[in-house]
Amino acid sequence: MHALTQAAFVTGCALALGACKPSAKTDATPSASASAQRGTTQSPWLIGMSQCNLGEPWRVQMNQDVKLAAEKHPNLKVVFKDAQNDSLRQRAQVEELLAQKIDLLIISPKEAAPLTQPVAEAHRKKIPVIVLDRAVQGDEFTTFIGADNVKIGREAGKWAVKALGGKGLIVELEGLMTSTPGQDRHKGFREGLELEKHPDLKVVFEADMQWLEPNARKEMESALTTQKKIDLVYAHNDPGAHGAYLAAKAAGRDKEMKLIGIDALPHEGVEYVKQGILDATFLYPTGGVEAIDAALDLLAGKSVPKKIVLGTRAFTKDNVSLGGEAIP
Ligand code: FRU
Repeated sequence: MHALTQAAFVTGCALALGACKPSAKTDATPSASASAQRGTTQSPWLIGMSQCNLGEPWRVQMNQDVKLAAEKHPNLKVVFKDAQNDSLRQRAQVEELLAQKIDLLIISPKEAAPLTQPVAEAHRKKIPVIVLDRAVQGDEFTTFIGADNVKIGREAGKWAVKALGGKGLIVELEGLMTSTPGQDRHKGFREGLELEKHPDLKVVFEADMQWLEPNARKEMESALTTQKKIDLVYAHNDPGAHGAYLAAKAAGRDKEMKLIGIDALPHEGVEYVKQGILDATFLYPTGGVEAIDAALDLLAGKSVPKKIVLGTRAFTKDNVSLGGEAIP
C-alpha cells in the first residue's frame, strides 16, 4: 500500500488525504500550520532540496534520483537549490527555503560546521530534516542517509594492500577535509592499510583536492615531480582519480601505478574501470530514492531511523562486466 494511503487508514481518515493531519508521533512531524492543507495533488507537500553543488556528475545524479522518485508521487513537489560549492550560499538558501514554508528539508551539505546551525534551526521549527551523504555536527536533524565512508575507505585500503602485495609507495588525494566523507574515507583507508603491519608500504604524498578533478590533477603533478616512483593512487572520488590519471598520462607515467577512486557512477567510474583507466572504484550511492521514501514516511507522521546506512560494491576489471561485487 502507498505510504500516505496507509497512513490515512492508520489515522482513520480514508477520504481526502488533504484533510488528514499526520499523527504527532515523532518530533519530525511537519509543523501544524504547514501541514494543514498540504499533501494532496492539488496542494502537494513542498520539499526543499538543498544541494551543495552541481559541478560534479555524482551530484547531478543525486538530484535526478530525487526528482524521478518524487515525480512518482503527485502529492510531492520539490524545489531545488544549488549552492554552487559555497557554504555561506547554502546557509542562505536553507533560510530561503524555510521562509518559503517548506514542509520538509533534504540537504546534502557542503561542509559540516557551517551548515549545522541552519539545519538545527529547521529542526527546531519542527520541519523534518533529511541530511544526505555529508553529515552535520550534533544531532539536531531528523535522519541521516548515506553509505559508510569509513568502511568504503577501509575496503580501498585492503584492496591496495592486496594489489601491491603489501609493499609500495602510495599517493592519497583527499576529498574536502572539512566534509565528513573526506575525513571518513581517509580514516578508513589508513585502517585498511595497516601500516604498522606493512613496513614496506608508505604514503609518500597526501593532499586535499577538495573533491575536484582539476585540483586533483594539479596535486598529482606535484606528486609526480617530487616522487620518482608511485605505485598506487587512492583518490577519495572518481573525478579525483581521473584527474590523477590525466596528470600521470601527461607525464608518461600512467602505466607505472594503480589508481583507485570512489563513486562508481555507471557513466563515470564504472566506465573508467571498463576502459582500464581506473583499477578499482567503490560504489557511493546517492541516496536520492531513499530520501524520498523517508520523506513520504515522515510526511505521513511515521518515524524513521536516525541513521540509514546504504551499501557499497567494489568494481574492478575482473568483476565490472558482472556488475561489481557486493561488500558485506
Ligand atoms: C560530489 C562528491 C562525490 C563524493 C561526495 C562526497 O560532490 O564529491 O564525488 O563521493 O561528493 O560527499
